[in-house]
Parts: sequence; C-alpha cells; structure tokens
Amino acid sequence: MEHAAPTIQATPSQNPPARHRWALRDMPDQHGRRVVVTGANSGLGFLTSRELARRGAHVIMTARDMTKGRNAEAAIRAMRPAGSVELRELDLADLAQVRAFGTRLWAEGRAVDVLVNNAGIMMPPHSLTQQGHELQFGVNHLAHFLLTALLLPCLRESRDGRIVTVSSDLHKRGHIHFDDLAGERGYGRIAYYAQSKFANVLFALELDRRLKAKGLPTKSVLAHPGYAATNLQFNGPSGVLKLFMHIGNRFLAQPAEMGVLPQLYAATAPEVEGGQFFGPDGKNEKKGHPTLVQPIDRGRDAEMARRLWLESERLTGASFP
Ligand SMILES: NC(=O)c1ccc[n+]([C@@H]2O[C@H](COP(=O)([O-])OP(=O)(O)OC[C@H]3O[C@@H](n4cnc5c(N)ncnc54)[C@H](OP(=O)(O)O)[C@@H]3O)[C@@H](O)[C@H]2O)c1
Repeated sequence: MEHAAPTIQATPSQNPPARHRWALRDMPDQHGRRVVVTGANSGLGFLTSRELARRGAHVIMTARDMTKGRNAEAAIRAMRPAGSVELRELDLADLAQVRAFGTRLWAEGRAVDVLVNNAGIMMPPHSLTQQGHELQFGVNHLAHFLLTALLLPCLRESRDGRIVTVSSDLHKRGHIHFDDLAGERGYGRIAYYAQSKFANVLFALELDRRLKAKGLPTKSVLAHPGYAATNLQFNGPSGVLKLFMHIGNRFLAQPAEMGVLPQLYAATAPEVEGGQFFGPDGKNEKKGHPTLVQPIDRGRDAEMARRLWLESERLTGASFP
C-alpha cells in the first residue's frame, strides 16, 4: 500500500501535484511511544496530546496552571484513548522549573520519543520571566532551548527520537535583537513575538545541523499552524489588538483541528527528515493540510544561529550533551 504523504514541495521548481492531503486518519499507530508536550492544556498543545493519546501514545502533558491542566487531562481521559496521559506542572517562564522537570524526567531512566516544543505566548505588554528575560523570548525560545538540552539524552534512547518546535509564519518578520534581547530600550509586541518565533527557526535548524554532524538519528523538525483559532490571540494582546484578534479568529482563522496537523505530521510521519519545516498548504500558508514549507533565507544563516546558540547557553546555563 502506498504510504500517505503530504503535499511535499521540495523546491519551488519541483512542485509535484498534490498527492495526498494528510489528515488524522493517516497518523501511524503510536503505541509504545512516549511524548512530552508543552502547553498541553490549550489549543494546539491540547489537540496534539489528545490525538497522540488516541493513537496509543503515552503523553506527558505539561501545563503552568494545574487547574487548567487537570481539566484538559480529564477531557482526554473521558474519551478513553487507546494510549494514556499524565499531567506535570511546568511554567516555562521559570527556568528553575524547566531544569527540575527535565532532571526528573531524565532520572526516570526512560526514553522520550517525541518532544513537542509547543507552548507559546503572543504579544503581551512588556514583561519579564523569573530570570529577567523578555517573556516571549524567554518562554517561546529560551525555556524550550533548555528543555531540549535536558531531554536530549532521553530522546537519544529512542530509535525515532524527534524534537518538534512550533514556530510561526511570523518568523519571517523576526530579527534577533542581540543588543537588546530583554526589550528594555525599544519593545514592540509584534517585533518581539516575531523575534521569538525566528529564534525557534534558528534553533531548530542549528540543532538539526549539530545532530547530523554527530551522526545521531534524533531529528529536529519545525512546524507552524498557519492561522488557527486558539486562545493565543486572547492571552497576550490587549486593547485594539485584541479586538482585531477576535475578528480575525472569527472570520480568517482555520479551526485549531486543522492548525495542529503540521505538528502532528512532523511528530509521527515516518518519512519526515531532520531539518524539515511543515505548515499549511493553502494560500500564504494560512490554512490547509501539511506541506513542506521553507523558512525565510535568514533562517538558514548558520553564523547567526551559532551566535543565538551561544547566547542561549549563556542565558539558560544549558549545556548540550
Ligand atoms: N494559533 C495560531 O494561529 C498560531 C500561529 C502561529 C504559531 N502558533 C504557535 O502555536 C503554539 C501553540 O499556541 P496555541 O495557538 O495553541 O495557543 P494557546 O491556545 O494559547 O496555547 C498556548 C499554550 O502555551 C501555554 N503557555 C503560555 N505561557 C506559558 C508558560 N509561561 N509556561 C508554560 N506554558 C505556557 C498556555 O498555557 P495557559 O493556558 O496557562 O496560558 C497554553 O497551554 C505557540 O507556540 C504559538 O506561537 C500559533
């Protein structure tokens, strides 16, 4: 039987006609796989956890708010999934929590097959993490950088270890403000969100280069959901921006059930390769089924990625094994 593949476009000049529109029915069986999902109580993280558990995976759901987390966990359990879920507390705005979470998981001595770096915050007023980093850069990038470093030994125990980092199409507007990462001199909500999502791209592709250079089978992959109606648009923005988000969610966004497909594809499809980036196949990558997409050219700048890596190590104290 021919394997279900998404509408892959290797380069613009090789666009094959759409062969297959990958959907949940195509997800392979996940029994025996152990998955960690950040921001698992809401939106794409919740759906990622739910669908992987329904296919048989054991999903470690993480949430910063345990009440919301318990509700999400109960909702999945109520569906009697083929797999299982458990909930653990993890506030990514505190690197001490990230370190404690990662260290405990490592001490359990069991493999992790997939880490989904999903949690995110978008366009809040200027605010800082526990360690004084700008919130979006801290939560969306630095915490996932540290978490990945801590879980890499567990991922290496898997025969098909994957790190799926959820970025955004908005990474294309991102620049790394190396001289003002904390946004103290000129914070812009959109610019600093874009910075954090651009950092996701630089990090995931640099990680892929490093894994390949070491000859390791663990894959680092990127995904973005296009524009999906979730709580993201309401948690950070305020005022007029929030109003626009309400209207956008209502009339422009696709359902979260569609937006989650690229990250589910990246986490499970056997043909996925390290360094690939998946997003929706519709116009401007806003809606649709998973397809191979390209980061902005600057996203492949290995020198900038190395600089960000060193800075992220310095700011988090992470050391990759
Ligand atoms: N939806 C879109 O159109 C869109 C587009 C591009 C990219 N993305 C990306 O998709 C990912 C998932 O977002 P979503 O759309 O599913 O939004 P969502 O419904 O708001 O979910 C975000 C999740 O991240 C969690 N989170 C926020 N701050 C956190 C922290 N300090 N520590 C731990 N968890 C934290 C949230 O927890 P709480 O519930 O406690 O706030 C929530 O569980 C994000 O990385 C986002 O940047 C989304």
